[in-house]
Amino acid sequence: MFHQMAGLSIQSPFTTTSVLVFHLLLIPFSKGQSQLIGPSQPIVAKIGSDIILPCHLEPAQDVAAKTLDWTRSDLDPRFVYVWRARQELLDEKNPSYLGRTSLFTDELKHGNISLKLSRVKPADQGRYKCFIPKEKEESFVELVVGK
Ligand SMILES: *[C@@H]1O[C@H](CO)[C@@H](O)[C@H](O)[C@H]1NC(C)=O
Repeated sequence: MFHQMAGLSIQSPFTTTSVLVFHLLLIPFSKGQSQLIGPSQPIVAKIGSDIILPCHLEPAQDVAAKTLDWTRSDLDPRFVYVWRARQELLDEKNPSYLGRTSLFTDELKHGNISLKLSRVKPADQGRYKCFIPKEKEESFVELVVGK
């Protein structure tokens, strides 16, 4: 009887410890930051066509009030599209994309930051980054331009 009791009193601190360790392991996952998701395959577009470069947050989160940008690191200036203070910011936009890029602004509340690119040119081929600076979240889209 005494032995059993002693066994219990020794066991319980171990149980507490393992529960604690279990919770500590879960913390990084349960903090729950959304992630940007892009396509796993390159997007293929024809010259002159209009296309969508997909990018969205999972789980969905309203991003309409956030700064969002689409860039191509091989260009100078690198900005393909910048959304700030609920509107497009044109200051640093690469002239090659003037009048050709837009967001689906009604989709931003669903965390959808997909970019529409109109009248595709051969020079549009490249690696695009979809980025939320505040969350340091990014995802990439490879665009291949065919004939
Ligand atoms: C994002 O919006 C575009 C344009 O409306 C749509 O084609 C695409 O399916 C949407 N993506 C998601 C994940 O809802």
